[in-house]
Amino acid sequence: AVHAAAADTPSTSSGTNRKLVSYFGLWYAFNIVFNILNKSTLNIFPKPWLLSTIQLASGVIWMAGMWALRLQPVPKVSPKLIFSLAPVALFHTVAHVSACVSFSKMAVSFTHVIKAAEPVFSVILTSVFMGESFSAMTYLSLLPIVAGCSLAAMKEVSFSIGGFNGALISNLGSVLRNVFSKKLLNEFSYIDGINMYALISIISLCYLAPVAYFVEGSTWAAGWSAAASALGSNAKFVQLLALGGVFYHLYNQVSYQALTGISPLTFSVGNTMKRVAVIVSSVVFFRNYVSPLNWVGTGLAILGAYLYSNSKIKK
Ligand code: 3PG
Repeated sequence: AVHAAAADTPSTSSGTNRKLVSYFGLWYAFNIVFNILNKSTLNIFPKPWLLSTIQLASGVIWMAGMWALRLQPVPKVSPKLIFSLAPVALFHTVAHVSACVSFSKMAVSFTHVIKAAEPVFSVILTSVFMGESFSAMTYLSLLPIVAGCSLAAMKEVSFSIGGFNGALISNLGSVLRNVFSKKLLNEFSYIDGINMYALISIISLCYLAPVAYFVEGSTWAAGWSAAASALGSNAKFVQLLALGGVFYHLYNQVSYQALTGISPLTFSVGNTMKRVAVIVSSVVFFRNYVSPLNWVGTGLAILGAYLYSNSKIKK
């Protein structure tokens, strides 16, 4: 999900607060459901490139329906808007497909532990490329993140180097996407969160579909029939794919809606807490073994991500 730039104001009305609370609730709930559906699909259809393309396509079909039925106003699109969205969509694509590759190779919970290290990438990229400097507290908060992720990685039974690298690349994509989108959401404030995310999905689909076809296209037919026979019918597999795709779209869309009313930092605290909910629910659902030391590492990484956001809010 991308970060909007509007700052919190003390005068936020209770109606707006209620709206925000429901956006956050839906964001967490949709994300938990998505992660469970996504991993259940990858277990029988280990084609992360094709699957992430299908997820983007489902969102595009969903939005085409919303626009056609006039449930959502059709956005006014200009070449300038498309040009500005192009890099954001590219980074969104990289963040999604590499996360999906990671989910296909390791436990969902572990990918999310590594995704909690996003602040480390944010600090490195913004200090190296934008010359930004941070408070001592911000730098210090990176230590528990790195230590926690390393400890969790050492004790993770599902660890795979490909999955680990996928999660790291996903962090890079997410940070770049956020840097680019802050400016964008301010500049095109006449486009609401729902339409902004829909346009990003369309451009992302254009990027990803040909690459996914190149990477996994030749295994499509065999993968499909194995998954359909594992579930018992083509219809059941289509249902699973469609549900996963719609939940992927909805969790991102709701996060965009939330973001128009909060600062990027409030968003990042919310995203860290979301990972706690996803880690716990996926461990319970998939009954993954998590050693006590792994829990300690996970807790440290999450605590570091929280301290990071807090130190920036204070600043
Ligand atoms: C994905 O696209 O699946 C992600 O990049 C996971 O990251 P998120 O939990 O921050 O959306």
